[in-house]
Amino acid sequence: MIGVFDSGDGGLTVLKALTERLPEQSFLYLGDHGNAPYGGRDSEDIYELTVASVDFLFSQGCRLILLACNTASAVALRRLQQTWLQDRDAQLGDPGRRVLGVLVPMVEAIAKVPWHSANQRPQPKPRSATSSVAIFATRRTVETGSFPLEVGLRAPDVEVIQQACPDLVARIEAGADQDELHGMVAAYVEAALAKMAGRVPDTAVLGCTHYPHVASAFAAALPDGVDLLDQPSLTAESLAEYLVRHPEFDQKDDRAESSSVPPKMRFLTTGAADHAGAKASLFFGRRVTFEACSF
Ligand code: DGL
Repeated sequence: MIGVFDSGDGGLTVLKALTERLPEQSFLYLGDHGNAPYGGRDSEDIYELTVASVDFLFSQGCRLILLACNTASAVALRRLQQTWLQDRDAQLGDPGRRVLGVLVPMVEAIAKVPWHSANQRPQPKPRSATSSVAIFATRRTVETGSFPLEVGLRAPDVEVIQQACPDLVARIEAGADQDELHGMVAAYVEAALAKMAGRVPDTAVLGCTHYPHVASAFAAALPDGVDLLDQPSLTAESLAEYLVRHPEFDQKDDRAESSSVPPKMRFLTTGAADHAGAKASLFFGRRVTFEACSF
């Protein structure tokens, strides 16, 4: 099973795209609803919560985990990969586990070059290169500076404007109506555009996996012609390519001998299972049954 983690429901927007792109894979979703939202928490707190959830997903049999949360990816992924995961592998003598994040496919899509090009000599500028991008994200994601840093390493000519949307996740999770959410989004878009002094970005990124729920509000508020990148589908494509490069994580072949067994999906939450399940359809397109878990 591939583990998919978010602070709450937002990662379901990514999981939906994953199940459409990779219907033969099994997924175990974990929403840390009991501790959401992450976006206003301090970095150490987010790191500890992310590590605990990743550790739990490993204990449930996942060997590959996707952090379907920009905040956790921006704050915790690099540190987790470079320290905790390496120490854990060394202790267990088993290096066969990986943790990926949603930030990488977004940075590749903005910079229009592969992630590993950061360590190479400057590439010729791709045709139709991005010249400016507005990134809408949680307060903590913006404060980490991860998007401008990682884009800058690969495409230094791209102007990156960041706009924190501090209350948006909490209001989405609380089930606020569309009028209220459209008003909030319009104000955040106006604040982002004000930073550009009359210019218009050619690309916009919803850098929080909860925001696809209000994608139509962003599309309505952004000036015509701005290309709104779709994080769930970009992430799904990137994971599909990753599985081709790393067939050891591809479960298609495990089931080849028992092809009558359909791929499985399970949904776990650290919060109240009924509440998480009732809201899930907003993000996943249908109601799902969550099971409560603690660790
Ligand atoms: N959905 C998450 C993200 O992509 C986090 C939202 C939150 O818990 O604040 O950033």
